Amino acid sequence: MMKEKGLEVVYREEISQDEFDKVYADYEAVIVRSNVKVRPVRGRGNLRLIVRAGVGLDNVDVSGFTKLGVKVLNTPGAVTRAVAELTVGLMISLARDIPRLATDLKSGRWSKAQAHGVELAGKTIGVIGCGRIGREVARLARAFGMRVLVNDLIEIPRDFLQEIGGHQVDLETLLKESDFVSVHVPLDPSTKNLIGEKQLRLMKRTSYLINTSRGDVVNEEALKRALTEGWIAGAALDVFSKEPPDDTELLRHPRLIPTPHMGAQTAEAQRAAGVEAARLVIEELSTRPA
Ligand code: MLT
Repeated sequence: MMKEKGLEVVYREEISQDEFDKVYADYEAVIVRSNVKVRPVRGRGNLRLIVRAGVGLDNVDVSGFTKLGVKVLNTPGAVTRAVAELTVGLMISLARDIPRLATDLKSGRWSKAQAHGVELAGKTIGVIGCGRIGREVARLARAFGMRVLVNDLIEIPRDFLQEIGGHQVDLETLLKESDFVSVHVPLDPSTKNLIGEKQLRLMKRTSYLINTSRGDVVNEEALKRALTEGWIAGAALDVFSKEPPDDTELLRHPRLIPTPHMGAQTAEAQRAAGVEAARLVIEELSTRPA
């Protein structure tokens, strides 16, 4: 797409942080995912546009580049459905203990009698952060017959609440009443450690936590204690404070389902993010530099 428009494209499957820092300013536009930090260590150089193919901008120094006159854009719509579907998949995995029972059977154990699942229908989901992904999760949860509570700093439009038959509540109410708590906020100073000991202790002992947003939104030390001491029944994490994570105590915890930040890893989402990112680059580079 970009080559057809006459742009010279350099594609790198992987790049180290050091090398990225050395070369980014040579280009007029860069498209990145989450594996490098994009910071203006060499100033602006030739750069006019940074596109984050995906939603989270926490790996880009947006204000630093904006001050230098570089545009920073993302492709938020492209990954919505993929992350929302993974969230539901993790919710069902927790409810039915699928990973453990599958592992048992692969090891020759028929654990039918140890399968004590619960159903999603009739349960309450608490969705923290009601942007694109949170809303899609709420819609899917509604389709499963769940009661939906949402929490957000801004007032959620009434027509959306009507669509999902849901209620906007404060965080404390959401944590106390939900059987599944799912986090969908961007990472910024106000959301770091949003779910810590205090919040985990408010949750029901039978409830589950799912985080497909950013690792630092959940305090991992507090979560380990919550799982070990039974403050909650279990958790699923697709994202971690450090990626790849090396906290084996957390990763191997029997009450945790860990996945490798794969929320957006679907053919459809990757294609949509790539096409949208290319479109943004073409649009920007077809205009004269500011
Ligand atoms: C995103 O922010 O787009 C998702 O977390 C996916 C990713 O970065 O891999």
